[in-house]
Amino acid sequence: MTVPAGTISPAEPGTVLAEELAFGLGLARRAGALLMDRYERLEQIDYKSARDVVTEADHLSETLIVEAIQARYPGDAILAEETGEHRAVAGEAPTSGRGRVWIVDPLDGTVNYANGIPVFCVSIGLVIDGVPALGVIVDPTRDELFAATSDGPATLDGRSIQASDKDKLSDFVISMALAGRSATTRARNVRKQIRIPRSMGSAALALAYVANGRFDAFIQQGGLSAWDVAAAGLIAERGGARVSAMDGGPWFDLARGPRSIGILAAPPAHHGTLLGLVREARSA
Ligand code: IPD
Ligand code: CA
Ligand code: CA
Repeated sequence: MTVPAGTISPAEPGTVLAEELAFGLGLARRAGALLMDRYERLEQIDYKSARDVVTEADHLSETLIVEAIQARYPGDAILAEETGEHRAVAGEAPTSGRGRVWIVDPLDGTVNYANGIPVFCVSIGLVIDGVPALGVIVDPTRDELFAATSDGPATLDGRSIQASDKDKLSDFVISMALAGRSATTRARNVRKQIRIPRSMGSAALALAYVANGRFDAFIQQGGLSAWDVAAAGLIAERGGARVSAMDGGPWFDLARGPRSIGILAAPPAHHGTLLGLVREARSA
């Protein structure tokens, strides 16, 4: 296959994880096709809680992904949203922080999907010794494929991509969801400094969009789980963004429980300012 200058084939060597990357991309594509087959044709929507739904498509997509990983990499552990921890054959628990763990969100944006809003994705990450090493995100509605490994660039459909290089915060379009004490005041403070906040309903896709500047930054204060961020956080980082937890510390920690993660991803020049603004409770 001929690859045009300036592009990187996702399946090509150049990363030590070339095989895993090709596998992950193919698998996320297959799961994306499964989601599209059932889109707007759902037979059942169940309630996980009053606000949280799960569809048969979430389960079918997860089964497809988990079985494929187990068949190809039986020595690897898996942490998946709907079925939880899958220990590797003769291996460690996925949350031990040792060894290789695939992190799976079979359908990110379930509420959108169940409501017929075409904004959702499949997210597959690989974490090695607690550190994100590979991430793929497939948006099957647009047939777009974001990917990165820790030793390579972020890519969209095989072409390398870069985070926003805007000079002024006042031009920023930010995926933003603040929560907790004085959230309204802090959101107002941020809004005054930027062009506009947005909320798409698929955190993984929104965070991946930071890698190519569709969103200049991503802020979600809590409510996220490892499967929302493992792939997309790495993609944003390899696109050149600085990615951190809301306290400015490391963004990925397998020991954090579900819905306990907050993330701020932004170009390095603006990361500190945004962090200050979202923490600032004083009315400005
Ligand atoms: C959710 C979505 C949503 C975000 C939540 C996630 P799900 O994932 O990404 O945008 O705000 O925190 O849990 O349940 O659709 O996979
Ligand atoms: Ca999710
Ligand atoms: Ca999900």
